[in-house]
Amino acid sequence: MSELNKIALQILSNGKGILAADESTATMTKRLDAVKVPSDQNNRLLFRQTLFSSLSMKECIGGVILYDETIRQKTSTGKMIPELINASGSLTGIKVDTGAKILAGSKEEKITEGLDGLRERLKEYYKLGARFTKWRGVYIISDKYPSKLSVSANAHALARYAALVQESGMVPIIEPEVLMNGNHTAKECLTKTSEVISKCFEELEINKVDLKGTILKPNMILPGKDSNENISNDEIAELTLECLKKNVPSSVPGIAFLSGGQTELEATANLNQINIKNNTDFIMTYSYGRALQQSALKFWSKDTNNIIGTQKIFDHRAKMCSLAAKGKWSKSFEIS
Ligand code: 13P
Repeated sequence: MSELNKIALQILSNGKGILAADESTATMTKRLDAVKVPSDQNNRLLFRQTLFSSLSMKECIGGVILYDETIRQKTSTGKMIPELINASGSLTGIKVDTGAKILAGSKEEKITEGLDGLRERLKEYYKLGARFTKWRGVYIISDKYPSKLSVSANAHALARYAALVQESGMVPIIEPEVLMNGNHTAKECLTKTSEVISKCFEELEINKVDLKGTILKPNMILPGKDSNENISNDEIAELTLECLKKNVPSSVPGIAFLSGGQTELEATANLNQINIKNNTDFIMTYSYGRALQQSALKFWSKDTNNIIGTQKIFDHRAKMCSLAAKGKWSKSFEIS
């Protein structure tokens, strides 16, 4: 087994998943503004170190994705953030793209940037303790989008990123996110997501990326946020599995879904159903940002000194996600 394959499996196996705590400072500021907590370095650190020292880190969180600011921060006990994460047996990851910018040639769409100087930045992140990385491409759905240009430009960038990351001894998370915005049907989401994912694997092959040392982070197959389509967890699971079975080579060890704007409950119920129906060899787990942190953030915002209370909320959510990653979650386990 290659070292990279071992890292990927360590992150995803045994009902573990990923905590995506890599919100950029701008995004974290939006999240903190929403709960009326000032977004300064200390508050961002305090919330994150509260989560990273929770009990559930050991059993439920195989990896944490950080933003550049956080990987360099020291906790109040004197440990560096990566040390705190590693202390629970979890691995440190880092977002290495520099964000999605307007795509010249199709100005309603975006292209993710960050390839310039990436090899050097990766070396530094490795030294700081990172063992895996993330790069997110974003795609919109409408009758004319995603355009061929967006599909191929983002796939090319993702593949060049992945090759550089493997060269530096880390596992790349490949995240092509087809957004939920719009009134498209789930079938349309299936068609467009399939196109996006298959193009990514075409480019990954050209760039000689070892798929056994990667993690795919896709969206689930869902109707658009503004669509009136009524769809069950079971149908979502079926369409999502159909998409992944057709378009992901079997050498990929695991798939860690993003939550993408689903509620905590929706993201948990859908992942659970995917695992109940999983007839592939892929590990199917979570790499959630909002769907792991939302309730904890809301609770914490009322009293930022209530560390234990905040951790309890986070531990519950992480436990529910971990059960869902084994297909063993039930709505009756939720606290109302
Ligand atoms: P959400 O689960 O909130 O979509 O975040 C996951 C993520 O990392 C988006 O890039």
